[in-house]
Amino acid sequence: MTATEAVRRRTAELQPEQLPAYVYDLAALRKHAAAVRAALPERVELYYAAKANPEAPVLAALSEAVDGYEVSSGGELAHVRAAVPDAPLAFGGPGKTPAEIAAAVDAGVHRWHVESEQELYRLAAVLADRPDAAVDVLLRVNLPVGAGTLDSVALAMGGRPTPFGLDPDRAEAAVRLLTEPVGPLDPVRRRLRLRGVHAHLASGLAAAEQLALAEQIVGWSTRLAERHAFALDEVNVGGGMAVDYADPDARFDWVAFGAGLGKLLDRHPDLVLRIEPGRALTAYCGWYATEVLDVKRSHGEDFAVVRGGTHHLRTPATRGHSQPFGTLPVEDWPHPWERPAVTTGRATLAGQLCTPKDVLAHAAPAAARLRTGDRVLFDLAGAYAWNISHHEFLMHPRPGFHYLDGYPDGPTEDR
Ligand SMILES: Cc1ncc(COP(=O)(O)O)c(C=O)c1O
Repeated sequence: MTATEAVRRRTAELQPEQLPAYVYDLAALRKHAAAVRAALPERVELYYAAKANPEAPVLAALSEAVDGYEVSSGGELAHVRAAVPDAPLAFGGPGKTPAEIAAAVDAGVHRWHVESEQELYRLAAVLADRPDAAVDVLLRVNLPVGAGTLDSVALAMGGRPTPFGLDPDRAEAAVRLLTEPVGPLDPVRRRLRLRGVHAHLASGLAAAEQLALAEQIVGWSTRLAERHAFALDEVNVGGGMAVDYADPDARFDWVAFGAGLGKLLDRHPDLVLRIEPGRALTAYCGWYATEVLDVKRSHGEDFAVVRGGTHHLRTPATRGHSQPFGTLPVEDWPHPWERPAVTTGRATLAGQLCTPKDVLAHAAPAAARLRTGDRVLFDLAGAYAWNISHHEFLMHPRPGFHYLDGYPDGPTEDR
């Protein structure tokens, strides 16, 4: 059970009809983010990838530790701007529409992660209508990485064919568009200021793998800048720091990662590095709390059916894992009938949807003593959880949201 004391207490106090609920520990999030920041050298900027969890209290709780936020759509841009009004924003993501580009230029975003030459032309067209506007550009590249570097990762977005970023030859062409004295981006070319390179190649990397990748990205970017004689101010080496769903107490080794980035920066005294983790910042601050509605035996196996399911917490379905959980036993059984309980030593925790895919944890030994009416707290539900789920399927009620900040003495926001 990873749930903090505050989260367990609040969950125990909720009425059955207030479940399921997402319960966040913002004090724990702040502490974790501060430790991440403290492990990084000064010349490493920490941006939070808002797509991991864009809830306003979460964004606000991170604000002291992060240098800015990475947004990947016009919707995220407007939302994050409203939640943390003065924070610098980096605008990434494939397929930016002309309207999104115009809105982001007008919002004065801090950095553009440009994904293609087409996007450069679109950006130039928007700038042409705004004579006072200028933008700072990082070219997002899809680099061929060393053999074996991405073999073990959960989600590779680069180093192989993907819709993300520019292949190396297209990156060369984009640099030429931005740096050659005369070209098709004129007359606005000078207002498209090339600052460096962005590469988010994978999610689920351990610190040593991330460092190996960062070395390759910086090395490649340095050679690109030398070939085209532009000043390489920044390299964003992306997010993707691993969260281990099989071991919820494990943490990405931020200290080793920070030390490694420090050594890399020693060799590049004029460079600023940026990272943009999502999952590894917020996964640990949220729990999906629910109760067991029924326990039943099917063809020799126990199933515990919980309120809610993958329409609220899609993470285990998308990643094909069992979501780790802890149980909060509820001793009170006010009914005259027998209380169904797990008897086989393990159970599959299923949700309320009419599909066999609605499974949160498969044949989990941790369910050995689970009874109908007990509560369950799913760990690691602070990132890519509620916001990636298919909420409308079967029209079950939405979960509650509880943001604890020093519970029970500090403020609590319930939604
Ligand atoms: C461009 C970009 N940056 C950062 C991230 C954050 O990745 P993670 O949450 O694995 O750290 C993502 C995730 O997809 C991404 O696409």
